[in-house]
Amino acid sequence: MRTYRVISEGVPETTMIAFGGQLPEGDDDIWRLVAYIRSAGAENC
Ligand code: HEM
Repeated sequence: MRTYRVISEGVPETTMIAFGGQLPEGDDDIWRLVAYIRSAGAENC
């Protein structure tokens, strides 16, 4: 869930911009990125 929020809202005052509303398939694309990051081994996200 944290990863979803970071991708969607970004991290203020860093170069990590908000991707919410920027991706072709919106929310679905953010969840796909979360799934990919989890599949790559990240835990608790
Ligand atoms: C679709 C593309 C991207 C995705 C999915 C993504 C995803 C993420 C995620 C999940 C984190 C949090 C990592 C963690 O602390 O667990 C993060 C942090 C960060 N990202 Fe991205 N990111 C993307 C593109 C970018 C780009 C293009 C930049 C800069 C050129 C960037 C810069 C950063 C930085 C600096 C942080 C650390 C922020 C901090 O200090 O907490 N990201 N990103």
